[in-house]
Amino acid sequence: MSSPGVMTLRDVHKTYNGRGVPVEALRGVDLEIGAGSFTCLIGPSGHGKSTLLHLLGGLDRPTAGSVTVLGEQVGRMTDVELARFRATRVGFVFQFFNLLKGLTVAENVELAMMYAGTPVRQQKTRVHDLLEAVGLAEKRRARANELSGGQMQRVAIARALANNPDVLLLDEPTGNLDSASEAEVMAILDDLHAQGRTIVMVTHSSEIAARAERIVEVRDGRIAS
Ligand SMILES: Nc1ncnc2c1ncn2[C@@H]1O[C@H](COP(=O)(O)OP(=O)(O)OP(=O)(O)O)[C@@H](O)[C@H]1O
Ligand SMILES: [Mg+2]
Repeated sequence: MSSPGVMTLRDVHKTYNGRGVPVEALRGVDLEIGAGSFTCLIGPSGHGKSTLLHLLGGLDRPTAGSVTVLGEQVGRMTDVELARFRATRVGFVFQFFNLLKGLTVAENVELAMMYAGTPVRQQKTRVHDLLEAVGLAEKRRARANELSGGQMQRVAIARALANNPDVLLLDEPTGNLDSASEAEVMAILDDLHAQGRTIVMVTHSSEIAARAERIVEVRDGRIAS
């Protein structure tokens, strides 16, 4: 086998069958993402960026075409395989963090490891290291709803890294942050990239996109450039 990218999409279509008319969110996407690369997805609102990211993270399956991530075909996995894939192979950072607000910072990160079946003692050490890495060690016992937006975003990144995934997918991780918090999050991402992780990030900010190695524009459910 030739060496394919860590993520390969071939003629990918995604149609949502919501109420009323079906929505063709993706209409024939071909894309190759190399191992260790830092890619930004840009494009107008509603044109398919999040849909594309969800397929890469195994949060959803394509309607047609193939999505291969780390050698696994997302469309062919069973629900159980897909859940395992999400828990262990990729880290996903949602636009609105999706933290469990009643849990502490440390518990939010631990939970991701519980899903992956990591032994409890190992979880504790790893949580400490991760929170240290995102500069939140002193907040480990704070509840998620007691954090600032930038702090929540960093917890979400720590959580996405909990199971040491090769691939990190982020949906507008700095969309709600002030410029100082944005700079902190970007510094963490630059670090992770330097460590060899593959990063795909959706952003509306052209300043941020300019820092990526590659900019991919999604327009009308297709790759425009
Ligand atoms: N679960 C869903 N059910 C039905 N339609 C959906 C669903 N999710 C997305 N869509 C539709 O698919 C299209 C693409 O949505 P998507 O969320 O991928 O856009 P986006 O590029 O991420 O936009 P934004 O920049 O606003 O986040 C939109 O028309 C949207 O309304
Ligand atoms: Mg989106």
